[in-house]
Amino acid sequence: MIFNRQLNRQPRWLKLGLIAVWAAILTLGLSDVPGFAQSANEVWQIGTEPTFPPFEMQDEASGELIGFDVELMNALGEAAGRDIEFVSLPFDGLIPALQSNTIDAAISGMTITAERAQTIDFSRPYFEAGLAIAVREGADDIASFEDLEGKRIAVQIGTTGAEQANAVAGASVSTFDNAPLALQELVNGRVDAVVNDLPATLYAVNEANLQGVEIVGELITEEYYGIAIPKNSEVLGEMNIALGQIIEDGTYADIYRKWFVSDPPILPQVAPALSAAVTSSFNWGRLFQNLIQGAGVTLMLTAFSFFFGLIGGSLVAFSLISPFKPLRLLCRIYVDFFRGTPMLVQLFMIYFGLPALF
Ligand code: ARG
Repeated sequence: MIFNRQLNRQPRWLKLGLIAVWAAILTLGLSDVPGFAQSANEVWQIGTEPTFPPFEMQDEASGELIGFDVELMNALGEAAGRDIEFVSLPFDGLIPALQSNTIDAAISGMTITAERAQTIDFSRPYFEAGLAIAVREGADDIASFEDLEGKRIAVQIGTTGAEQANAVAGASVSTFDNAPLALQELVNGRVDAVVNDLPATLYAVNEANLQGVEIVGELITEEYYGIAIPKNSEVLGEMNIALGQIIEDGTYADIYRKWFVSDPPILPQVAPALSAAVTSSFNWGRLFQNLIQGAGVTLMLTAFSFFFGLIGGSLVAFSLISPFKPLRLLCRIYVDFFRGTPMLVQLFMIYFGLPALF
């Protein structure tokens, strides 16, 4: 009742104005949410970080996306009856984009790891790879992973290579937005080694004519690439069926031979990283530690917002009784705006609507 009387005090044009503003933000915001805007069509929006030859790269002449992953995904789209639309994103932005359902899937030479599988799903493995060490030609002090101790290493941000490098004792690790930049740093002599996926480094050395770099030692890891998909998405099933289909009918092998000039290996149904994780990944101690840490952050944020909310709220309250009419009106709009809509809708708008505005 109180609420109603409050609202009725506002002139009609003000209410209509507020509704119009909300409608505009809603439209803007929702057009960014794939489920809302595209539920009717058959497009898969596929995220990729397109500087990872030979998996994904830009064709120099046409500017188009090409590569093994790109062709594979187009074949998958065909098998599943979907149009494919690629979306370029930073590598460390792919998983957040999947979590917010901004994209339907990501193909980006992404290794299936137990840690990633906690926040996103993976298709069955589609490529066998592993990490290798690259050094400047003739550098004889690094021949294995152990030799990296205390050295300067360049990696691509957010990758399994970065994770391995960070585990090396005493090493100073510099991160780059993409693998070619990390390799260039090696050529320029500013780092001693690059830890990167073998097929990508091989391609850079053999095909892209990266001069003065060689690969040393054995593979550091055995990894499998998977197509990354948001949790609880029906895309997972469709993708796996399509993948099975193109492996079966030879399309996969054709694409593989085109890019790697050899026959594809037989791929496991489940990546070893995931089958091993089932037994070892659940850790109560870690869970408890995370919860305590989270509670601390929540308390801090509460205290912080209480403090500033008190100051802000008092200012608005005083303005509401000020003799200066425009100020009163402005504060009225502000108050009604935030009080008149559910908190969830506000959060939604801030999360999806604001990025759409910029
Ligand atoms: N396989 C590595 C990983 O998953 C590196 C992938 C990098 N991919 C890319 N498109 N830049 O961490």
